[in-house]
Amino acid sequence: MANMVKVARGNRKISVFATYEQMSDFAIKKWQEISQRAVADRGFFAVALSGGKTPAGFYDKLSRSKKGLPWDKTHIFLVDERFVPFDDDQSNYRMIREHLLGSIEIPTENIHHIPTRQITPEISSKKYESYLVDFFKLKPGEMPTFDLVMLGIGEDGHTASLFPWTSELMEKRRLAISVALKRLKNRRISLTLPVINNARNVIFLVSGENKAEVIKKILEEGDRMLPAARVTPDRANLFFLMDEKAASLLSVSYKKASVRVEKS
Ligand code: 6PG
Repeated sequence: MANMVKVARGNRKISVFATYEQMSDFAIKKWQEISQRAVADRGFFAVALSGGKTPAGFYDKLSRSKKGLPWDKTHIFLVDERFVPFDDDQSNYRMIREHLLGSIEIPTENIHHIPTRQITPEISSKKYESYLVDFFKLKPGEMPTFDLVMLGIGEDGHTASLFPWTSELMEKRRLAISVALKRLKNRRISLTLPVINNARNVIFLVSGENKAEVIKKILEEGDRMLPAARVTPDRANLFFLMDEKAASLLSVSYKKASVRVEKS
């Protein structure tokens, strides 16, 4: 993979790619490694996927990858969802189905959407929580451990459906919550930070100039008011994959201080 800068700080690994395509190829490679390891160790691979625009091209490419993807042992969950019917164009499930699920051979029982046919978003979030408790066989107080959580970052620093200056960021016990904000068109359901931070691997996919400012705030200023900066899993590999446009405001000294960890 050419034109890639790769750096490591603790368990945080930052990779900057010349193009979105290269970033997607790298993410697919990581997915292969993580899923194969999970299946070898535990017999299945549990991944939680985000919506938004950024991952669509990656999902397309992943769906066409022929090698090393154990779909029959892969369990796909959603990181977050809009409280809309599945066929609504705002639905994350619909996006993921159109770009990935519809083109791969995965058993339907391995797809764990967030139920939105309930009366309220709160009931949906509770139902999703109970799916998680059943699937991961959790005892009271335990958090699920996803093998991989794929996240995006909004221009305001939100990730999943966790937004700046909201009480949801303080959540410690719940696995999934409902989110209602005036500035959002739809109410939403989201995994919580304790769940995200309990994963074995977290990958942020970030693309575009409009993300450059927020990326700088998260990676260089560690602005804790930004939800994405609160993704600090203790034992996970935390990957920030971004294209050059998203990385364009990162300071030169920061790049110079980088440690190259892998040949590209
Ligand atoms: C969603 C998300 C959300 C998303 C960011 C980035 O459902 O919208 O899960 O957190 O990842 O808003 O979105 P873009 O990729 O569209 O910029």
